[in-house]
Amino acid sequence: MARATATGLDLGATHARAAVVEYERTNPTGSPPKVLKFAQVPLDPAAMKDGVVENAPLVSDAIHHLFKSNHLPVKNVVLGLGGSHVSVREIELPKAPIDQLRASLKYMVQDQLSMRVEDAILDFYPTDTTDTQVRGLLVAALAESVQRTVDTVISGGVTPSRVDLTAFALARGLARGPYGQGVIGIVNMGASATDVVVLADGIPQMTRTLPYGGELVTESVMRACSLPHGEAERMKLALGLNPPPAGHEAAQAASAQILRRAQALVEAVGQTFAYHVQRTGQQVAGVLVTGRAALLGGLDRYLATTLRLPMARAAIDQLASLEGALAAGMDDGVRSDLAVCTGLAFGGAK
Ligand SMILES: Nc1ncnc2c1ncn2[C@@H]1O[C@H](COP(=O)(O)OP(=O)(O)OP(=O)(O)O)[C@@H](O)[C@H]1O
Ligand SMILES: [Mg+2]
Repeated sequence: MARATATGLDLGATHARAAVVEYERTNPTGSPPKVLKFAQVPLDPAAMKDGVVENAPLVSDAIHHLFKSNHLPVKNVVLGLGGSHVSVREIELPKAPIDQLRASLKYMVQDQLSMRVEDAILDFYPTDTTDTQVRGLLVAALAESVQRTVDTVISGGVTPSRVDLTAFALARGLARGPYGQGVIGIVNMGASATDVVVLADGIPQMTRTLPYGGELVTESVMRACSLPHGEAERMKLALGLNPPPAGHEAAQAASAQILRRAQALVEAVGQTFAYHVQRTGQQVAGVLVTGRAALLGGLDRYLATTLRLPMARAAIDQLASLEGALAAGMDDGVRSDLAVCTGLAFGGAK
């Protein structure tokens, strides 16, 4: 059986990450794809901002290094997009063939966009139809930012064959097997932001990017305890949401900040799910959590008890087959790193 490969490229705030997936060329969905390789390189904190390339040379050098030193294939690369220059909204349009709807989007959605229609790349993904209406997700991306990101990746020696939303990649990568049915939420907590996606039978119904990430928690600890970044980061990792040691004032001040940030995040996730229930009547039955920032000690339990929902850590290794060395080195950190770039690569296998 002829095999082909696709590579997913995720430009996060802290790392550029890539996963290489192998699939059957003639029957890409027939058997589970295999994850062959995963590699990442750290990104300078000044490289990306809110999901957008801020310093192009820093990013293109990192991509060059990532692909070259790990011998990653530069063919069939799917690049992830997310952050503040992409908005995804649930809309209803009059029922019509999908090609016709996509072609006339710019005339129909002008007043629903947070950017000028002439500055935007638009797309529409139907989720549901009635006799007269089509419900779906309107994706609007700032064309200039998308072009800047693509140009930066090309300068790094890699020409993407597709771009895809981080939120859709999470859905494609994780809504498999037992998570491919029913209404589930995915929460991906990174350094700069948290993606929330609600899926019904594997199809994204809504997605939001919340402005809460692990870096915000570290910055709060820095301010509350007058600590430099590295020390505040270490303190955050050591404390998590566990009770601070008695009599340790700095730890208590840091703990209060960590809890405050966790509360704000969980409240915003809860509001996102509540909005989905109110709009569709569909109750979210469980949540998959990923992203390194969600490894904060006790956060899983805090999310589960506050939202009163079953919670599991997303585990691509239980949903797809993995090359031996990758499977052997698996832990919760690598699982978190794999979620977006693997989902992007699965998109190239279509
Ligand atoms: N064990 C841990 N416990 C708590 N937080 C952690 C842990 N390990 C890493 N983090 C935090 O996770 C964040 C980085 O997460 P991640 O690597 O998922 O982000 P990213 O993908 O680079 O960024 P983004 O998705 O926002 O673009 C940092 O804020 C870091 O402090
Ligand atoms: Mg990320």
